[in-house]
Amino acid sequence: MPPASKNLEALEAEAREAIAAAPTPAALTQVRARFLGRKGSVSEFLRGIGDLDAAERSNAGQAANAVKQRVEQWVAERRERLERSARRRSLEAHGVDVTLPGAIPPSGHLHPITHVTRHMVRFFTSLGFSVEEGPEVETDYYNFEALNIPSDHPARDEQDTFYVEGGNLLRTHTSNVQIRAMTGRTPPFRFIAPGRVYRHDLSPKHSPMFHQIEGFLVDERVSFGDLKGILYAFARHLMGDDVELRFRANHFPFTEPSAEMDVRSGGEWLEWGGCGMIHPAVLDRCGIDSDRYQGFAFGMGIDRTAMHRFGIPHLRLLFEGDVRVLEQI
Ligand code: PHE
Repeated sequence: MPPASKNLEALEAEAREAIAAAPTPAALTQVRARFLGRKGSVSEFLRGIGDLDAAERSNAGQAANAVKQRVEQWVAERRERLERSARRRSLEAHGVDVTLPGAIPPSGHLHPITHVTRHMVRFFTSLGFSVEEGPEVETDYYNFEALNIPSDHPARDEQDTFYVEGGNLLRTHTSNVQIRAMTGRTPPFRFIAPGRVYRHDLSPKHSPMFHQIEGFLVDERVSFGDLKGILYAFARHLMGDDVELRFRANHFPFTEPSAEMDVRSGGEWLEWGGCGMIHPAVLDRCGIDSDRYQGFAFGMGIDRTAMHRFGIPHLRLLFEGDVRVLEQI
């Protein structure tokens, strides 16, 4: 048997080589186990020392412990190296080239209807109007009866109105909010009510759902002149100073007198909506003394306003959700 020290030198050299050759941290862990683990060759050597003469024992023990320490150190150094180069490789592979131009993430914008609605609401809230909402699924009372719309009125026909189960309907206009907001309130008050309305009109130029904005004000000594003044200011706010309004005599069961209004700024006249002085019977039905109070009301199409403003040729383009169209607006 060769002297123990000889054996140890060979072991050390072998370990050194194996450590230097370990390609990965995992391989290095195995190499370390091979030499320093509980069953590793250096550990075995240390255990074998017990069999030596007392004289040799202490020298061999010291030498083996020194080898053990050196091997530990080489392993640590090699591990550090391997990890450093792995880090560098991964940085090179996934690194960011800060000199490249940035990618601009696509950003959305408000839908034209939302945009125009907010613009409208802002005008009226600046005049002290409050925003009021009403349900889209409505009872016959609020949509028709309380607004003086008689049971034989064509608007009530199934041709025009979507009825839902239980006798309710999809509101055909935002005027239902007049009744809901006025009932139980004492004038003076002023409200604005934008929202969706539904009519059974499936012709290609129309949409069975569209948007209206309702406005109404009740006080003492309110006149049609007040109504016109507000509508002119509103039209200028939306379309600029050169805007023109046209009032055509019309009939609505819930206003008297009533008018249809058209608007023009530059190009063609646009049918904008209806308006009038709130019918005294409607005020009375809401518990408001019509001898003392008067009110005006108006309701116009938001979609038409948006189409006019953004030059959108078809109403349906607004609702189909085609981002290629919406992105152009
Ligand atoms: N509700 C009517 C419509 O939808 C418009 C209107 C509102 C008319 C308020 C007069 C007063 O056609």
